[in-house]
Amino acid sequence: MPEPNAPAVHLRDVRLQRGGRTILSGIDLLVPTGSVTAVLGPSGSGKSTLLAALTGELRASQGSVDVFGRPLPQRQRELLETRKSIGVLLQGNGLLTDLTAAENVALPLRMHTKLPAPVIARLVEMKLHAVGLRAAADLYPRELSGGMARRVALARALALDPPLMIYDEPLTGLDPIASGVIMSLIARLNASLGLTSIIVTHHVHETLPVADRALVIADGRIVFSGTPAELQQTTDPLVRQFLDGRPDGPIAFDAPQREVA
Ligand SMILES: Nc1ncnc2c1ncn2[C@@H]1O[C@H](COP(=O)(O)OP(=O)(O)O)[C@@H](O)[C@H]1O
Ligand SMILES: [Mg+2]
Repeated sequence: MPEPNAPAVHLRDVRLQRGGRTILSGIDLLVPTGSVTAVLGPSGSGKSTLLAALTGELRASQGSVDVFGRPLPQRQRELLETRKSIGVLLQGNGLLTDLTAAENVALPLRMHTKLPAPVIARLVEMKLHAVGLRAAADLYPRELSGGMARRVALARALALDPPLMIYDEPLTGLDPIASGVIMSLIARLNASLGLTSIIVTHHVHETLPVADRALVIADGRIVFSGTPAELQQTTDPLVRQFLDGRPDGPIAFDAPQREVA
């Protein structure tokens, strides 16, 4: 059970490494319960790496990662239990192509609960309804538009009623209209279901309107943390370069990979 009044996520002085290389360090992050937080930053800055630390998929090599007031468990079995309270919408939808929309949404319920089939069917119907797709229950992923497939994946991520939702690039590959639908859906679900949401994205302008807090990652650290309004007004050159999408500035967008001699 979550600790009462604890923030949904609390990172203290976290360092994350991959392949022996430090990707992020000195990360302090407090995500209040009920909030929508946008994690922004250029491609390759470590946004997905940060999410991997929240699910325990990647262990911090320094610092602490608390979810709902408790350190992420070290033991695999307890970690899997904690993960049930974190809904994840990964880049790409990960829908199984041989299963219908309804069967895809039912998967986590079949795997993680012992609920009888009629109850699962009812829950699946409710989740699909929540994303506005009850009529698509019997369609296969190939029969869905990109936006609809993303919404089915969202329904599946919500299947176990996780209090914390994390979204990795939820707008990738979607047209502007589908992007608007997904963003307002994310915000609406957060409010109506009383969730906490963390949205990782490089789509600044689509995401900031639904966010309560924003952070910008660049140069291996958090270079901005505040409200979207504060972000819009920042004069920090690193942050401005990212916001304004300028290729020249403190961030080397196209730095060539350094060869090791
Ligand atoms: N499994 C991995 N092993 C080694 N390096 C990785 C791995 N995954 C990502 N990286 C590196 O970590 C950095 C950050 O990647 P990532 O978190 O995916 O960035 P973002 O999601 O912001 O685009 C990149 O330089 C990437 O090459
Ligand atoms: Mg990523």
